Amino acid sequence: MDVYAAVTSRRAVRAFTDRPVPREVLERVLSAAAWAPSGSNLQPWRVYVLTGGPLAELKRRAGERVAAGDPWDEREYEMYPPELKSPYHERRSAFGHERYSALGVAREDWEARQRAAAANWDCFGASTALFCYIDRDMGRPQWSDIGMYLQTVMLLLRAEGLHSCTQMAWSVYRRTVAEVLSPPDELILFCGMSIGFEDVTVGHARTGRAPLAETVTFVEG
Ligand SMILES: Cc1cc2nc3c(=O)[nH]c(=O)nc-3n(C[C@H](O)[C@H](O)[C@H](O)COP(=O)(O)O)c2cc1C
Repeated sequence: MDVYAAVTSRRAVRAFTDRPVPREVLERVLSAAAWAPSGSNLQPWRVYVLTGGPLAELKRRAGERVAAGDPWDEREYEMYPPELKSPYHERRSAFGHERYSALGVAREDWEARQRAAAANWDCFGASTALFCYIDRDMGRPQWSDIGMYLQTVMLLLRAEGLHSCTQMAWSVYRRTVAEVLSPPDELILFCGMSIGFEDVTVGHARTGRAPLAETVTFVEG
């Protein structure tokens, strides 16, 4: 698979089969992803990979919290600015519309939207999940390094015939994740990532992108 095909075939997949991902494939992907760039080569990513019993336990604990209506854990970072200005606000609304209309869920059907969002806690059925932490001393440039690393992981997964879904959602249940993973205190959970084989029997909508001129300016001589 060439790089363009990996980039364009990657999307947030939210329906996986229970087929396990071989450990050697995960090691191959994560060994190659370690070549992602980072400022001064700090390699600030700290990754945990969960499968089998420990992942089932995490899903169970998170599901229990949802069922009990537990409040989210106190935030260690804000997912989005409190007021999303234009054009971000419109893009977020368009995404919500794309996502929920693909599921046949009406915009005003809050309960159905909550049910769809709850699939996050089952990792959308995936057999493998990755959790990416960063040292709390790190700054914005290192958080951006983490993004490059995670995209590298996702593209390599495509090369292996696998799909993924990055999940910031897990940061709201970070204490539950920590109960299962026991990370050192100096780490902040950025996100989870569900990994596996797509369940192609489940429909999905492709997200759109802003036209190039909205996000790129050529300054030419
Ligand atoms: C950092 C990050 C966090 C995300 N968190 C979630 C999440 O918690 N749950 C979810 O279903 N999708 C999540 N997504 C997926 C985005 O919604 C998705 O990437 C975006 O809508 C673009 O769609 P595409 O990836 O299918 O191209 C996340 C993506 C990124 C990059």
